[in-house]
Amino acid sequence: MRTGVSAALALVLYGSAARAQDRTTEAGEAAIKDPTAECVGYTYAPVASALANFPPLTPGVFVSSLLPGDSAGKAKFQAMSAGIPNIAPKNGSAGYPPADPDCWWTVSQCVVPKLAGLKPDVAFVPEPKTLGYGFDDGPACGHNVFYDYLAANKQKATFFYIGKNVLNYPLEAQRAVADGHEICVHTYSHPPMTTLSNEAAFGELWYGIQAIKLVTGVTPTCWRPPQGDVDDRIRYIATQLGLENVLWQFDSFDWESGTNGVTPADVQANYDHLIGNATAGRFNNVGAIMLTHELNNFTMQTAIDNYKKITGAFDHVVPIAVAQNRTQPYAETNFTMPNFAQYVAGTRTGGPPSASSTTSAGSGSSNGGAGSSGSSSSSGKATQASGKGAACGLHVPGGLVATAALLASGLMLLA
Ligand SMILES: *[C@@H]1O[C@H](CO)[C@@H](O)[C@H](O)[C@H]1NC(C)=O
Ligand SMILES: *[C@@H]1O[C@H](CO)[C@@H](O)[C@H](O)[C@H]1NC(C)=O
Ligand SMILES: *[C@@H]1O[C@H](CO)[C@@H](O)[C@H](O)[C@H]1NC(C)=O
Ligand SMILES: *[C@@H]1O[C@H](CO)[C@@H](O)[C@H](O)[C@H]1NC(C)=O
Ligand SMILES: *[C@@H]1O[C@H](CO)[C@@H](O)[C@H](O)[C@H]1NC(C)=O
Ligand SMILES: [Zn+2]
Repeated sequence: MRTGVSAALALVLYGSAARAQDRTTEAGEAAIKDPTAECVGYTYAPVASALANFPPLTPGVFVSSLLPGDSAGKAKFQAMSAGIPNIAPKNGSAGYPPADPDCWWTVSQCVVPKLAGLKPDVAFVPEPKTLGYGFDDGPACGHNVFYDYLAANKQKATFFYIGKNVLNYPLEAQRAVADGHEICVHTYSHPPMTTLSNEAAFGELWYGIQAIKLVTGVTPTCWRPPQGDVDDRIRYIATQLGLENVLWQFDSFDWESGTNGVTPADVQANYDHLIGNATAGRFNNVGAIMLTHELNNFTMQTAIDNYKKITGAFDHVVPIAVAQNRTQPYAETNFTMPNFAQYVAGTRTGGPPSASSTTSAGSGSSNGGAGSSGSSSSSGKATQASGKGAACGLHVPGGLVATAALLASGLMLLA
C-alpha cells in the first residue's frame, strides 16, 4: 500500500515537474535552467512537418546532393553553376602549388580572394579597439546558462549555427533572435567544404540557410566555413547565396580541449594572447575576431570566465554585424540591429524597426576588468568528448590535416 501511494505521489510530482517545463515555446525552453533537462530532445511541430525538405539529420553524414523534390534549390544552383570557378575539390594539400592559386585558407590563411569579383573575407572588424564577438557550432542543447549570462550583461554576440543543430534544437535557435543576437550560418552538417562537389557545397549552405529560415524566420547573410576550410570556389558559391565569409585572426582552440593533448590551460593561454594583444594596443586601428565555440560546457564556461577580462581589454565587444554597421543583417529588410554608434551608446535591441528600443545599459562593453574571474573553468569538463567533435575550427598553419581524418571525424552534431 505504502509503496503504491508513494509511487502514485512520485508520478504526480513527476508529472507536474514535466508540465512546468514548456518545451513548445522559445520562452518556455529558455526558462529551463538544468542543461541536462534542456538537452533532452523534443518535438517542434513546424520542424517535424518540414523534415522531408531537409537531408537526414544523421550525424556525420554530409550533404552530397540536392533533394530530388527541391526545385527551388535546384533552380538556384542551376542559375549559378556556369559561373562557379573550375577548381577541383580538394583532397589533401599534396601537390597544391605554393603560389596558392585558389586562396585556400587552410594552407595559407589567405583572406583576399584571387578570383576577381569576390570580396575579402572578414577576418577582423573595422572598428578600432573592438572585438567582434562570435561563437560557432550552436545551438548547443544546453546553452541557457551561457545565454542567460550574456543577457545579464546586456551583451549581444554573433552565432554561427549548424543547420542540423537548428533543426534538433529549434527553440534554442529562436532564443538567439529573441535575445537580439546575430545569426550566421555554419553549414548544414559541418563538413570540410573544399572537399565537396559544387552541388554538395551548395547544398551544405543552402540547407543550413533553409533550416535557420524555417525555425527563426530570418535568412542569414554571413557564414563561417568549418575549420576555416574555404577557397575561391567555395567563396563563389557562398557569395551567390548572399553570404559574406567570416573568419578570424585569433583561435582559442576551445573545441579541442581534452583532445589531441590540448588542455584547458592551453585554451586559457590563447584567450590571454587575445587579451594581451588588446592591452598592448594591437587593435588600436583595426579590431579583432577570435574563434570560440558554443559547443559544450567547457567552451561556454570558458567564455564566461574570460568575459570581464575581455570587456576590460577592449573598448567595445559587439556582434560582428554591429562592428560593420550592418544594420540589416538578414535578407528580410524588416529586421534591424543597432549600428555601431547606437550599440556603444546603449542600444542593444534589434528586431523589427518598430520594436527597437534604447536601453539605458551600463554599457556592458567598457567597464574595467576588475574582479575578473581568474578562475579558469576549473572543472574543465570537456564534455564533448571523443573524436566526434574533432576538427572544429581546426587551424593548421602550413598544411592540411589528412582530409580523410577530417571526413572521418564526422563532427559537431549534438555531443
Ligand atoms: C584522396 O587522396 C588519397 C591519397 O592521399 C587517395 O587514397 C584517395 O583515393 C583520394 N580520394 C579521392 C576522392 O580522390
Ligand atoms: C599576441 O598574440 C600572439 C599570438 O597570436 C602571442 O604569441 C603573443 O604573445 C600575444 N602578445 C601578447 C602581448 O599577449
Ligand atoms: C558548466 O557546468 C558546471 C557544473 O555543472 C555548472 O556549474 C556551470 O554553470 C556550467 N556552465 C555553463 C556555461 O553551462
Ligand atoms: C559606422 O558608422 C559610424 C557613424 O555612425 C561611423 O563613424 C563609423 O566609421 C562606421 N564604421 C564602419 C565600420 O562602417
Ligand atoms: C518581415 O518580412 C518577412 C518577409 O520578408 C515576413 O514574412 C515577416 O512576417 C515580416 N516580419 C515582421 C515582424 O513584420
Ligand atoms: Zn565549427
